[in-house]
Amino acid sequence: MPLKITFLNQKGGVGKSTSSVLIGAALSAAGYQVAFEDTDSQGSLTMWTDKIGKLPMVHECPLAEVIICDTPGRIDLNQEEHEGFFRTIIQSSDRLVIVSEKSLFSTQASIPMIEMVKKYMRDEAKGMILFNKVRQRTLVGRQDELEMAQDLGLPVLKNSLPLAAAYENVQIEGFTAVLGKNREKIFSLALEILK
Ligand SMILES: Nc1ncnc2c1ncn2[C@@H]1O[C@H](COP(=O)(O)OP(=O)(O)OP(=O)(O)O)[C@@H](O)[C@H]1O
Ligand SMILES: [Mg+2]
Repeated sequence: MPLKITFLNQKGGVGKSTSSVLIGAALSAAGYQVAFEDTDSQGSLTMWTDKIGKLPMVHECPLAEVIICDTPGRIDLNQEEHEGFFRTIIQSSDRLVIVSEKSLFSTQASIPMIEMVKKYMRDEAKGMILFNKVRQRTLVGRQDELEMAQDLGLPVLKNSLPLAAAYENVQIEGFTAVLGKNREKIFSLALEILK
């Protein structure tokens, strides 16, 4: 059975699709057979992978070792149909990565999805929070991250993604948009998610 890594947040624009492409590309570069599953009806990830070229969709790759699953944002989890949609996805995932910007406001807005993940994830699955668009000179330090994690009830990944213009081009250029030290960070992040 492939390991399924799902990126979630009912909030829009936090970087679910960007993280999906980067982590998928990093694991593929590290030698894993990676396939994408795009559950966003807007199909943004499908569009991106077409441009990047190398990364197959799940139906094209029966021998995938890792499935990267991108999910839609701008969702009201109180609506029953949305609840059911996410419940099914959560129950079928091995890693549940809630992508959030690193601010009190953004983490508070992520709580409905965090609660849903805690409620429905399988016993052997792992839930985690990924901070994206992190400002380098943020006043929120490591200590606050740990406190936030305690409050939210899911671990925060040590590796985060910085706010950087290069990441805006991921949708056009794929992994090649990110170079040098930032690229190394994405490999570390990918391995941390797999652990
Ligand atoms: N680390 C980053 N630095 C700068 N820009 C970023 C970063 N991550 C994402 N972005 C930009 O933010 C916007 C939203 O990112 P993305 O589409 O990945 O979010 P999403 O959560 O998938 O959104 P949606 O809920 O609409 O599917 C995009 O324009 C993207 O290029
Ligand atoms: Mg998206």
